[in-house]
Amino acid sequence: MDDLPEKPAKQDKNDEPKKSKPSSSSSGVSRRDFLKISGVSAAVPLVSHVSALALDDTAHVQGPGKVPVSLNVNGKKLNAQLEPRVTLLDALRDQFELTGAKRVCDRGTCGACTILMDNKAVYACSVLAIDAQAAQITTVEGLGEPGHLHPIQQAFIDNDAQQCGFCTPGFVVATKAFLDQHPNPTPEQIKHGLGGNFCRCGTYAGMRAAVLQAAKTKGA
Ligand code: FES
Ligand code: FES
Repeated sequence: MDDLPEKPAKQDKNDEPKKSKPSSSSSGVSRRDFLKISGVSAAVPLVSHVSALALDDTAHVQGPGKVPVSLNVNGKKLNAQLEPRVTLLDALRDQFELTGAKRVCDRGTCGACTILMDNKAVYACSVLAIDAQAAQITTVEGLGEPGHLHPIQQAFIDNDAQQCGFCTPGFVVATKAFLDQHPNPTPEQIKHGLGGNFCRCGTYAGMRAAVLQAAKTKGA
């Protein structure tokens, strides 16, 4: 996981230029003049953009009623009539009965709803279904099924990497995306790479062992 951005250092009052001495650059433009000029030039594109939006009569507003939505999920085309406000998670679970992705926090913090969009791990609760129509979506159901488990799913079983199991589908899918990027991860990389998923039962040791096993068996 990337380091958090550092807070900007507090500016010392003494760093401020003395107000009694207006500064001017070598070009002869004072700081006050510069601010005036840049303020005007920054406002122009904004106004033009707003006018363009107002004049664009080809803009098409969808909803609030149901509209046709077509999703590519696990290699199949799935169609439904959905209000534009429906999340991808709700569409998968409630419309298409793909209940592997779980709704826990429903606000993009726990990872229980993790799915793949174009092979990237995404919180399905934080994407609108209508915005996901161009993507190839993979849910945990698309990775494997009873009798034909994906090596990552098998590794989670072999390492007893679940207790209540509620977080497990999200971890399995997040592990797939992680191993695609890090085929030979270190324990430290696993810890950070799966940092977007939480397990309230605290089964982290088993899950990290499962990821290492899946990496060895080429689970990606
Ligand atoms: S349910 Fe989506 S991140 Fe928690
Ligand atoms: S196994 Fe229960 S939340 Fe992870």
